[in-house]
Amino acid sequence: MKKFSLLLAALLAIVSCGGGKKASPKAVVIYFSQQNSTKAVAETIASSLGAPTAVIEPVVPYDGDYGQTVQRGQQEIQSGALPEIKPLSVNVEDYDIIFLGYPIWFGTYAPPVKTFLTNAHLDGKKIVPFCTFGSGGLNTSVNDLKALLPNSEILPGYGVRAARMDAVASEVDYFLRSNGYIEGDFTPLPAFSGQSPVTEAEASIFDEAVKDYAMIKAKAKTVCQRDIPSGKEYLFTATNLTPEGEESETSIQVYVTVPDGGTPVFTQVLR
Ligand SMILES: Cc1cc2nc3c(=O)[nH]c(=O)nc-3n(C[C@H](O)[C@H](O)[C@H](O)COP(=O)(O)O)c2cc1C
Repeated sequence: MKKFSLLLAALLAIVSCGGGKKASPKAVVIYFSQQNSTKAVAETIASSLGAPTAVIEPVVPYDGDYGQTVQRGQQEIQSGALPEIKPLSVNVEDYDIIFLGYPIWFGTYAPPVKTFLTNAHLDGKKIVPFCTFGSGGLNTSVNDLKALLPNSEILPGYGVRAARMDAVASEVDYFLRSNGYIEGDFTPLPAFSGQSPVTEAEASIFDEAVKDYAMIKAKAKTVCQRDIPSGKEYLFTATNLTPEGEESETSIQVYVTVPDGGTPVFTQVLR
């Protein structure tokens, strides 16, 4: 009897201990990557979180040359096609929060990701998007995610240019800390200043940042800025130029960082 009472007391202690502690949400990293940039971000996130990964794999791979992939991707996005994907290695039902990774194709998530999102049961799930891109597309793809999954909670995401993969480790660390996904200190960034017309010096920072990216032909008009730990960050609004160099009616917003003593780089374009 004494033995039994001791056992019961021990069991109660375990139950009450477990019951009092809030279970941390179960996270999984699910991604598609054609050229491995998104894969690298996915692995960085998964290793920081200690979360499993699962790959979205199309049955027919995009293994042609760049032109063939562009042609197939464009046709699939325009027609709303859902390319068949292989079964996932995890069951999404088992997780509360999904870190969802994809390359930006034509301003949105690549088609195999749409197949996954359409087939999976994601109502009530939290989704943290992350993506890689040539110039941008986090904002537009997040809008598309919200429209496709009105019953899921789409949380703030992370996006990085494929040309800036060397920044991924520190940016992902900051992203995960500042959003509370991992523990650790972080310094909140100050708000941007108000917008003002660009000075000549600021216009040349913009020109320098975008000069090697053929897809951006634009003239900086206004800018806001803030200090960041390693330098300055600018948010330019720029008018797109026509092939003849005339100002058009459309504009873009471009984030540019200038590291202390370094050269300007653009980090993301909002269209
Ligand atoms: C079919 C296709 C369409 C793309 N469309 C865009 C685009 O609209 N905007 C952009 O910034 N980059 C675009 N890119 C560039 C990719 O987003 C970028 O290279 C990405 O990092 C690739 O990720 P991955 O290595 O994980 O496949 C496109 C690339 C391909 C192949």
